[in-house]
Amino acid sequence: MAEALPYVPGLAGVPAARTSVCLIDGEVGKLEYRGYPIEVLAEHCTYEEVAYLLIFGALPTKTQLDAFSAELVAERGLKFRIVDVLKTLPESGHPMDALTAAVATMGMFYPGDHVADPDFRRLSAIRLIAKVPTIVAAWDRIRRGDDPIKPSTELGHAANFLYMLDGNEPGPVASRVFDVALTLHAEHSMNASTFTARVVGSTLTDPYAVVASAVGALSGPLHGGANERVLEMLSKLDDPSAASVRRWAEDRLARKEKIMGFGHRVYRVKDPRATILQGLAQELFDQKGSTPIYAVAGELERQMSELVGDKGIYPNVDYYSGIVYQKLGIPTDLFTPVFAIARVAGWLAHLLEQLEDNRIYRPSQVWVGEADRAFVPLSDRG
Ligand code: ACO
Repeated sequence: MAEALPYVPGLAGVPAARTSVCLIDGEVGKLEYRGYPIEVLAEHCTYEEVAYLLIFGALPTKTQLDAFSAELVAERGLKFRIVDVLKTLPESGHPMDALTAAVATMGMFYPGDHVADPDFRRLSAIRLIAKVPTIVAAWDRIRRGDDPIKPSTELGHAANFLYMLDGNEPGPVASRVFDVALTLHAEHSMNASTFTARVVGSTLTDPYAVVASAVGALSGPLHGGANERVLEMLSKLDDPSAASVRRWAEDRLARKEKIMGFGHRVYRVKDPRATILQGLAQELFDQKGSTPIYAVAGELERQMSELVGDKGIYPNVDYYSGIVYQKLGIPTDLFTPVFAIARVAGWLAHLLEQLEDNRIYRPSQVWVGEADRAFVPLSDRG
């Protein structure tokens, strides 16, 4: 019998794939997609360009980007029977569950050899990136008793999602801010949902089952959703003065309670995405007017830096994303679905990479149960 490797809970630090999609150095706050720093991509690219980069491994030429964007636009619509499925779901249900159900349903409407045929693989990827925002917006409308808004054929990927929520075309600042937020969330290496996508994909099932599974993984409170809790926490802090915020933070730390939006498994410095989002938040608030919550967030960050900065606890991406989404008018329980809208490109990049050199995942286990137990017939069990 081969010598057993040591058990590592959560597979922390155990390599699960060879990959060229995303590089993170948490000690220095470096994040790169396909070798390009996130700061550069956020400043110069649209989400469509970043999705192309993640899926195909290189930045597109203008012609390639135009063709890719046109394909995304053409695939934005939903089959009316997928909308019908959404209409049958209870309106009190969580939007992540509605998204999981609708994406899984897509597999029935788009059957085919998604795995062996490269054209089919490409089309499935485009379809998923294009339709996930439409599903999220349609569900939000349906649960309120409104008809879904048909996707625009004129707006970019980010602006079109905001438009489908309420029928109002967002201005350039809101569109750009949301576009960058999508770029920042598009990929983040081997987290739980990405690992899920690779494991499910390694069985050679269809990409709709893969993305539905990844959405399910992202639904858990330990993965997506911290930004909702950041907003909840900040909205309870109604005095933004330094003294009051410091007292609150010290109390909470003394009680060993986590302060939402701070700390990260990988980053020991400020999450580079938080720095970019903070700049975007500033732009948005300059244009649309500030709110007390933004002032509180800034003060809490200053106080936390003095209190726990030396432990490597700094704002993570969730700290400013909720504040930005709220200002954009996105309902709080859509924050995690918005994460999925962005991350679908990363999941698919990993799926395609997995399929290039696939081996089905089959880890081992550490046996802690009893063995060779004597069977007792039902009639004799006391
Ligand atoms: N507030 C207060 N103290 C914290 C925080 C925090 N947010 N994060 C870590 N610490 C403290 C811990 O209590 C621990 O203190 P100790 O050494 O006195 O026991 C020390 O810092 C190390 O903490 P760990 O839990 O080991 O840090 P880890 O890297 O394992 O956890 C995690 C990272 C889970 C993200 C944690 O920081 C946390 O719960 N943060 C709040 C929730 C949050 O914002 N999650 C979103 C993460 S980003 C994302 O998922 C996209």
